[in-house]
Amino acid sequence: MILAVVNQKGGVGKTTLAVHSAAWHVERGRHVAFIDADGQSSSSRWIHGAGWRMAVHTETAADAILELAASLRPAHDIVIADGPASLAESTRALLLIADYVLIPCGVTVPELESTAQTVRMLVNARRVRGGSIPDAHLVMARVRGERYLLTRDARQAIHCLGLPVCETVLRLREATADAAGQRTAVWTMGPRGRQAAAEMLKLLEEIDAYARTTNDARNPHLATENIPQQWSSPGVLAAAR
Ligand SMILES: Nc1ncnc2c1ncn2[C@@H]1O[C@H](COP(=O)(O)OP(=O)(O)OP(=O)(O)O)[C@@H](O)[C@H]1O
Ligand SMILES: [Mg+2]
Repeated sequence: MILAVVNQKGGVGKTTLAVHSAAWHVERGRHVAFIDADGQSSSSRWIHGAGWRMAVHTETAADAILELAASLRPAHDIVIADGPASLAESTRALLLIADYVLIPCGVTVPELESTAQTVRMLVNARRVRGGSIPDAHLVMARVRGERYLLTRDARQAIHCLGLPVCETVLRLREATADAAGQRTAVWTMGPRGRQAAAEMLKLLEEIDAYARTTNDARNPHLATENIPQQWSSPGVLAAAR
């Protein structure tokens, strides 16, 4: 199983989700390989610092990513790839090799617009691969409090992108922001990480259940022309209603 975490938008939570997912699998005794496809190497530093038992491979060139992922797949329970902040060829390579894709997304208009481009690339990868692979979920990440207007309508708004959305939302939390710096996972951070840990663990369980049952039923045909490319706040909310 190859799991890729992608979004051309920078800072949406790709590395946070990819690293926590990898740590979660390692702690469950699974044989994990990690591909850091982002030139910033932030996930590599985090994983090395934490000392989790997994091989980390840094690779940013598209063809090399395809070859690396294919070579790692047979010997590991799961290969997790952290994508770069651009619609680079490396993102396309990940979409062409992944079995399952997670697209973290915030709820502001610029994030939705960038995410729409990523969804378009995913749909084109499915077309090239002749069907509904890779299976994919959007993940609402770095979401502000309930009083924030876009948060309240975010779930409906994000559904306009046409992909299934994970039930569990990652709220903007200090412990989550600090986990990379502490080179750890939120569930080791004690009382100050309690809420962050609860929601991260719930999300990872939810994702694991989806990943074990990747199927076509969740993936109604998505045409690129049906993906909204331009948004405005009233438009997002109006479309969602
Ligand atoms: N749920 C959250 N609550 C608070 N801070 C968060 C949360 N998720 C991520 N962050 C912080 O937001 C910043 C961006 O997150 P992260 O590095 O995971 O995003 P990214 O999509 O990988 O970014 P890039 O595109 O630059 O690689 C980081 O400082 C991270 O610690
Ligand atoms: Mg990153």
